Amino acid sequence: CGIVGYIGNKEAQDILTAGLKKLEYRGYDSAGVAVYNGERIQVKKTEGRLAALEGMLERQRLPGKVGVGHTRWATHGKPSDHNAHPHVDNTEKIAVVHNGIIENYLPLKEELTSKGHTFVSDTDTEVIAHLLADLYDGDMVTAVQQAVKRLEGAFALAIVTEYEPDRVIAVRQASPLVVGVGNGEHYVASDIPALLPYTRHVYVLEDGEMAVLTKDNVQLLTTDGTPIRRNVQGVKWDVAQAERGGFDHFMQKEIYEQPQAIRDTLGGRIDENGNVDIRAELTFSDRNVCDIDRVHIVACGTASYAGMVGKGLLEQLVRVPVEWDIASEYRYKGPIFTENTLVIVVSQSGETADTLAALREAQRNGARVLAITNVVGSSIAREADDVLYTWAGPEIAVASTKAYTSQLIAFYLIALHFARVRGALPQEQLRALAVQLRQLPEQAERLLAQAGKLREMARKIARHAHVFYIGRGLDYAVSLEGSLKLKEISYIHSEAYAAGELKHGTLALIEEGTPVIALATQRALFGKTLSNVKEVKARGAYVIGLRTEGNGELDSSVDDLLEIPDVHPLLTPPLSVVLLQLLAYYTAVLRGNDVDKPRNLAKSVTVE
Ligand code: G6P
Repeated sequence: CGIVGYIGNKEAQDILTAGLKKLEYRGYDSAGVAVYNGERIQVKKTEGRLAALEGMLERQRLPGKVGVGHTRWATHGKPSDHNAHPHVDNTEKIAVVHNGIIENYLPLKEELTSKGHTFVSDTDTEVIAHLLADLYDGDMVTAVQQAVKRLEGAFALAIVTEYEPDRVIAVRQASPLVVGVGNGEHYVASDIPALLPYTRHVYVLEDGEMAVLTKDNVQLLTTDGTPIRRNVQGVKWDVAQAERGGFDHFMQKEIYEQPQAIRDTLGGRIDENGNVDIRAELTFSDRNVCDIDRVHIVACGTASYAGMVGKGLLEQLVRVPVEWDIASEYRYKGPIFTENTLVIVVSQSGETADTLAALREAQRNGARVLAITNVVGSSIAREADDVLYTWAGPEIAVASTKAYTSQLIAFYLIALHFARVRGALPQEQLRALAVQLRQLPEQAERLLAQAGKLREMARKIARHAHVFYIGRGLDYAVSLEGSLKLKEISYIHSEAYAAGELKHGTLALIEEGTPVIALATQRALFGKTLSNVKEVKARGAYVIGLRTEGNGELDSSVDDLLEIPDVHPLLTPPLSVVLLQLLAYYTAVLRGNDVDKPRNLAKSVTVE
């Protein structure tokens, strides 16, 4: 989502909508503004693109010089007028816009309902407005500080109130927020592009900080109330660059957003005892989970490769038979269903025509469908029997990155949850995996620091016509995704092979200098993969080996080396892929391609 706030001498409505336009890439399923007109706060909001809101505001302007605005990417509650922000309390004196996820909104909602508050939306955000109304006792800054103490999760907030209409209060906790400094006016926004038409002087808020904006002043403090002294920062980016958060491409930005996407997708789904629990989100009883006798995983493109990792996880952790299919094949092949087949469809957009058709085919046969998707209210989310959302936020680049890693996380959650309910593995073992899952965001963060090294490797690959990826087990599944990334944006012909299959044909293609990227992170298969590496090396290949830290055995057989932390073998895919994404990205950049919009491809394929 994107949020904006304004206080000054100009008409707030115009500044808020202009800001939202710049933030639309952060979400576009509904939009709204709240403006204080000198007497009261007026809210206008609607489902649909920002243009729909602008149309409303053209017909009926909201006069006033202070306000907040929002463009939404739904997480809790489908896109609708009611669920659009801003959200207000029952007196309609407090208006809140929010970016992020409040993980504990359900208990808070219950508590506030029992105190007489009435809720009108399905969002997590609405609790904040009611909570502030409940806590307000003459000073809104204090109320906000008290409220923040009760909120768990990631959020950035901007708040206007009728109680103290000469202030906009902004809070940042793990979701971005920037304050813009003007002359007799101040701004707040989710990121810098929304501010650039007005000012290049900003304060970038850190986690746990808040800002109190008046017309003439900005006060920065921690959410505990300690004042912060900080110099105003000058922005040198141009507008287009700023929209990408300073990155050269959306794909690069989205690669770097993966630690956050993983964190958000895990958020609130592992309980305090370290057990994965997604019961609240699914309609499955424990009995239903135990009854599942077969799983079909169906998807297209990158989502299908996430599904292939998912197959490995479910087979190994849950010991249930899994079939994997590409949606365009599945829908026409006459799939075979057992009494209790669960069909898992995976789709970032939730709109891919073949995946949707596969879902319908499964339902027509009486199967239960669980969707993993990134878009609340999408066709697939609406039609599936159950949905487990990935919380990656909007993905703009055609080549999928953060959606893939979040889909992997969704599969870990499903596999660990099912395994626990079915008693497929000792609880201790499952908990140990959940503990390691929580470490993934930080580990992915560290891998991003290897970008420079991957840029150098890309130089060696960029001039070749063919590249091969090999691996075994989960490494093979990740190879498929790494290879797809490279081919779709660099236009280099690239193929992934199960390493053991090489000698049955592909080895004939290896010539002096042919790049082979060999994934060797799976302990149990390492020796076998090593033999395959030696086979290609003996034919003159230039080999990049990818292994876990501390396993030096591969090193003398490869030309270049990539390393990921020494995690459990089931947990390597979300880490390995980050390096492969960076390799593909830099190769495409070196070849001068349009990285975010590769030729002939589309982000969402709604034709068959
Ligand atoms: C297109 C996109 C891919 C994506 C695939 C499936 O081909 O370019 O990045 O993986 O569709 O899309 P979905 O939205 O269903 O995940």
